[in-house]
Amino acid sequence: MPKALRFANASCLGRETLPEVWSGGSLRSNFSSEHWSHLFPFLRVPSPQYPISTMYLKTLHLRQFRNYQEQKVEFTAAKTILVGNNAQGKSNLLEAVELLATLRSHRMARDRDLVKEGEAIAQVNATLERQMGVSELTLTLRRNGRRSVAINGESVRRQMDFLGVLNAVQFSSLDLDLVRGGPEGRRNWLDTLLIQLEPVYAYILQQYNQVLRQRNAFLKKTQDSAPSTQHSEQLAVWDAQLATTGTRVIRRRDRAIRRLAPIATAWHASISGSTEVLQIKYTPSIPLEDNHPEEVQQAFLEKIQQRAVAELHQGTTLVGPHRDEVELTINQTPARQYGSQGQQRTLVLALKLAELQLIEEVVKEPPLLLLDDVLAELDPSRQNQLLDAIQDRFQTLITTTHLSSFDSQWLNSSQILFVKAGEISAK
Ligand SMILES: Nc1ncnc2c1ncn2[C@@H]1O[C@H](COP(=O)(O)OP(=O)(O)OP(=O)(O)O)[C@@H](O)[C@H]1O
Ligand SMILES: [Mg+2]
Repeated sequence: MPKALRFANASCLGRETLPEVWSGGSLRSNFSSEHWSHLFPFLRVPSPQYPISTMYLKTLHLRQFRNYQEQKVEFTAAKTILVGNNAQGKSNLLEAVELLATLRSHRMARDRDLVKEGEAIAQVNATLERQMGVSELTLTLRRNGRRSVAINGESVRRQMDFLGVLNAVQFSSLDLDLVRGGPEGRRNWLDTLLIQLEPVYAYILQQYNQVLRQRNAFLKKTQDSAPSTQHSEQLAVWDAQLATTGTRVIRRRDRAIRRLAPIATAWHASISGSTEVLQIKYTPSIPLEDNHPEEVQQAFLEKIQQRAVAELHQGTTLVGPHRDEVELTINQTPARQYGSQGQQRTLVLALKLAELQLIEEVVKEPPLLLLDDVLAELDPSRQNQLLDAIQDRFQTLITTTHLSSFDSQWLNSSQILFVKAGEISAK
């Protein structure tokens, strides 16, 4: 039996029904109430000096992570400004928080890059307060080996049980690639958001990618060989698996964009003074008339048939969510071609604010906001828009090379930490 069949049988996903995450029902379908009490055994009211309704990262402990040898940080205000020269470790610290939230790094780093040079193992530890209580998160990365995660000292086997404990939205200058770069960057962005909205999505995506890899290997191996019954029977098995797992991905991406788009459009109108209309459209490689699983699957299989000859010839899978696009247009012009750098930044800012709002709506607590060097890039009016939007509602970690880019009100209400050569001090 081909590998993928066994894989599908072992799948914990049964019939394809979308969970209630979006309709204001239960939060995350894979989290039962016992699960939560298991995650948060020390239920207690957060100490009053911290914002009570916000998820609050209280401490972070980095060990042999990037350029940090051993560094504990305590966050004492809703906003923390990390200031330091270039290449001191500011972005590295934000990356550690991003990893805890998504198990991904938007720098696309491999684990061995995350482990400090000359060391075999790195660890990121955090104490997080949420309405549900306090939890301790641990991520262990290995130069030569698999990463592992633990909650409250207990190791967690499935990634998706770790995801969703801490939520964060990252905003860095790399995000401009969302507008300027190719479709892969936008798919990654959407996937990272989905992982936080619905941790089970990490598993769904992994399943799809596995089937895709195996189907590609099969097409490569049989590339340009003469058609045979055995070949087409085997391929049909892969087609079915690709369509089943791919449909799960497509439907969730579609649903996320339908929720996100109006929020982003509203933010964009507000920041640009309503002169520009942002449209975000999900254009999957499979035509998506409606979001019914059977119909999407059927359309998927038909599309595979249409491209069958080309696939055999090219030896790779040409149809599926790995070819999806998320179109960003401003005043009906592709955003990439539209306007100035400043206008593209406005678009990204609108996307990020929409992510914040959507995560907050779905998980019912404001996520952390990680601002990596972007404040100085915005003009004063957009800076103020952003600051007004976040106020003290989101715990925010901000990196900068110059404190002078902040107004005094900000400086007075923020914790300021200095970052120098992988060490952090309060002054
Ligand atoms: N695995 C690693 N081991 C040791 N040092 C590393 C590792 N990965 C990255 N670094 C070092 O970390 C530094 C970069 O840190 P980081 O990207 O956080 O800088 P930064 O303070 O954000 O600077 P900038 O202001 O330029 O953005 C570099 O000096 C790099 O060599
Ligand atoms: Mg940096």
